[in-house]
Amino acid sequence: MAMISRRAFTLAAASLTVFTLGASGCTKNSDEIVVGAYLSLSGSDSTFGTDTKDGIELAVQEVNAAGGIKGKKVKVLYEDDKSTPQEASNKVRQLIDRDKVVALLGEVASSRSMAGGLIANTKKVPMVTPSSTAVEVTKDREWVFRTCFTDAQQGDVAARFVWETLKKKKVGLFYAAQDNYSSGLAQSFKDSFKKLGGEIVIDKGFQSKETNFTTYLNEIKGAKPEAIFVPIYYNDMVQVARQAKQADIPGTMFIGGDGWDSADLTEGAGAELEGAYFTNHYAPDVPWPNSAAFLKAFKGKYNHDPSSLSAQGYDAARLLFDAITRASEPTPAGIKAALEQTKDFQGATGTLTIDKEHNANKPIVVVQIKAKKFTYHSQLMSK
Ligand code: PHE
Repeated sequence: MAMISRRAFTLAAASLTVFTLGASGCTKNSDEIVVGAYLSLSGSDSTFGTDTKDGIELAVQEVNAAGGIKGKKVKVLYEDDKSTPQEASNKVRQLIDRDKVVALLGEVASSRSMAGGLIANTKKVPMVTPSSTAVEVTKDREWVFRTCFTDAQQGDVAARFVWETLKKKKVGLFYAAQDNYSSGLAQSFKDSFKKLGGEIVIDKGFQSKETNFTTYLNEIKGAKPEAIFVPIYYNDMVQVARQAKQADIPGTMFIGGDGWDSADLTEGAGAELEGAYFTNHYAPDVPWPNSAAFLKAFKGKYNHDPSSLSAQGYDAARLLFDAITRASEPTPAGIKAALEQTKDFQGATGTLTIDKEHNANKPIVVVQIKAKKFTYHSQLMSK
């Protein structure tokens, strides 16, 4: 066995002491502000998590290059919740109890933000979700914020777009029945579309884990809709689009929501969905001044266009760092108070103001799939 020199032993013992104190929260490395991020870095929605992390990393790099916050470097600890709500709860608990983070970023999917947000709210640590749009996510949870629009707003904008711009009067709905996001967005579209005078000719929810959609698609086709609103995630949408082609339903019939945003959608079913539209937070060619600066910085770091998720991760992190800078002290309560004051924040995903419900008021983008790319079509302000 190798001999351990006295000096090496002392050093090891010293670093052990620092670690123990840090872990118990008595002493933190006072040169750092530690934020936790819980994301789907693996599992069924892994592009959501990894793309978001890329955006957060860019924001961290920029804030630290500019000297950090009040002289302290920002450190983000990432945890992978493997795309499950159960792991999302566990990871949030760990980040708060073990790592003593002062604030949290996460999650993307509403179902996991519901789970993680419950813990953050109980433990009184502010959480900012970059992209969870389901209405319930922030409801009655005073420690939970979002920097994206809600599905009440998104469903309404999608309904107005289908009615006013596409001039379609009969729509079919197809969504994931057990998913908070998908079923909530379908419902809000339905409410708004009916209010406008439109007709929902068929309304179908599929069950989780279903992968063969042919029977549903044929039923929907039989109801003769002029458009089909399918607010589901990209992985399921690839299957729906391919099977729709087999059933002779043209891809241009489909209208989606932000859950479509992934390069995997265009890789898997770009040809089938040529010409289709969906509502989103961002597109690389969106005409906002801050988006152009972000696009340039992101491409410089990663050599490819950012997805909407990356832009949202970037905005949520920057907005949180901005709040920590404005906070009277960088504690959970101080940061929460500063987050509540956020007004006219200039983001890559538009200018946003946090309202009393801790939701963001901002524009919504309509994206069209053209030559397998997500291209900006128009923007609508949510009501
Ligand atoms: N809005 C979706 C949800 O709440 C998540 C999402 C956002 C997915 C943006 C893709 C792009 O579950």
